[in-house]
Amino acid sequence: MDQESSFVVVANRLPVDRVTTDAGSEWRRSPGGLVTALHPVLSGQKATWVGWTGAAADRHENDLEATEPFELDGIRIRPVPIFQGEIERYYEGFSNSSLWPLYHDAVESPVFKRRWWDEYRKVNKRFADAAAEVAGPGATVWVQDYQLQLVPAMLRAARPDLRIGFFLHIPFPPVELFMQLPRRADVLQGLLGADLVGFQRPLNAHNFLQLTRHVLGLRPRGDCVELPDGRLVFAGAFPISIDVAEMEKLAASDEVVQRAAKFRADLGKPKTIILGVDRLDYTKGIERRLKIFRELLAEGRLSVPDTVMVQVATPSRERIEQYRSLRVKVEREVGRINGEYGRVGVPAVHYLHQSYSRTDLAALYRAADVMTVTPLRDGMNLVAKEYVAARVDNAGTLVLSEFAGAAAELRQAFLCNPHDLDNVKDSMLRAIHTEGADAARRMRIMRRHLKTHDVQAWAESFLTALDRTGRTA
Ligand code: ADP
Ligand code: F6P
Repeated sequence: MDQESSFVVVANRLPVDRVTTDAGSEWRRSPGGLVTALHPVLSGQKATWVGWTGAAADRHENDLEATEPFELDGIRIRPVPIFQGEIERYYEGFSNSSLWPLYHDAVESPVFKRRWWDEYRKVNKRFADAAAEVAGPGATVWVQDYQLQLVPAMLRAARPDLRIGFFLHIPFPPVELFMQLPRRADVLQGLLGADLVGFQRPLNAHNFLQLTRHVLGLRPRGDCVELPDGRLVFAGAFPISIDVAEMEKLAASDEVVQRAAKFRADLGKPKTIILGVDRLDYTKGIERRLKIFRELLAEGRLSVPDTVMVQVATPSRERIEQYRSLRVKVEREVGRINGEYGRVGVPAVHYLHQSYSRTDLAALYRAADVMTVTPLRDGMNLVAKEYVAARVDNAGTLVLSEFAGAAAELRQAFLCNPHDLDNVKDSMLRAIHTEGADAARRMRIMRRHLKTHDVQAWAESFLTALDRTGRTA
């Protein structure tokens, strides 16, 4: 790349989607929260986003084409090619079969295979090289998430002049669990290449600092740890959020209001719509949620057609065995509930294994009476925040797992322990039967919180802290 950037974001995925048009195909900005948050920072200066397109790179294409940077909406994009075998070992293997389950309380057993590590390191190096290539002298580089934990140290080795931040979007496990990870010392050393390592929750930062003592024999003090060369690495909590203003505007639009009314009508105008919107992931607690709904129907505490459930389950990581078997289990449970409690033309559960537009999601949020977000473990859970931001009418209630990062902020939700099915049942019934005035009070307080804790505030607080650590170190 001929131009160098003063700010670089490195993330597994690029913030763009390949869209087919009449004229062929073109790149469009994807509607993700991270790109929205960073767009002002990225477009206001010479900035580059380094990431993977999501498709397997073609060995026959020449390398230059696969990595050719391009510009989109004022952001420079630097694609990192990943080949099919690497997708299997770096993305589906080490990232999503070892790290993902381990970092989420091992709710599914992590799988460790030695050959996955080499590929994780190799692909991390490719991201680090790409970032080193596009970063100008003294630039700030912000590395994102568990797929790229080795990038900070690799980048620092190549470019000690850079200021490097790292943010982990998922939980960081306690010492006992992290100790299972093969190459655990290398992963910690990778993260310690950063000047600031950000987490969703203070406990995650605490776990990380403890591990630098336990595994590497370092001596963390307060919110930082000093390395043998005297460099200081800071760790802290920076809970991520959403573009609240954008969601409010969308949710208040005529199009969304009309679409929400149409959803209600299509569902047969039930008294209560219970909604779930999740990636089809075993951390999200979808199967248990369905079981709870079935039990409530069996006990006669809820009934069809007064109450219906809508479960959006976004297709995700579909080649990984644990995800395939989850899909089978969820779809079997949906079939069972509909078989036992549905009526002709009125299923008890409307199950949608599809992606939706932002407009449709906002309309579903507005059509719902009760939103259920019951993960067994979740770094934050942005769906919960989107639902609250969308309720510009202050209506609707939220059932929220204590094990989602969002529970620390959305205290007026009906909080529950997803491991205790009776407790979730009680929370669901309370959320369904709460009076309008109480529901509105809860929603107002949560909306007020989100207005001052949006994704723009998140990005600003992380980058300000990164800037400060750079100076004190
Ligand atoms: P995770 O990052 O684990 O997938 P989050 O709840 O934090 O979970 O974020 C999920 C994001 O994906 C949200 O912004 C949500 O709006 C979006 N999303 C979830 N389901 C769908 C869907 N079916 N179609 C489009 N976007 C979806
Ligand atoms: O929340 C963690 C995360 O990896 C996000 O970075 C990503 O947007 C989401 O889960 C979906 O995962 P994937 O990129 O594997 O489809």
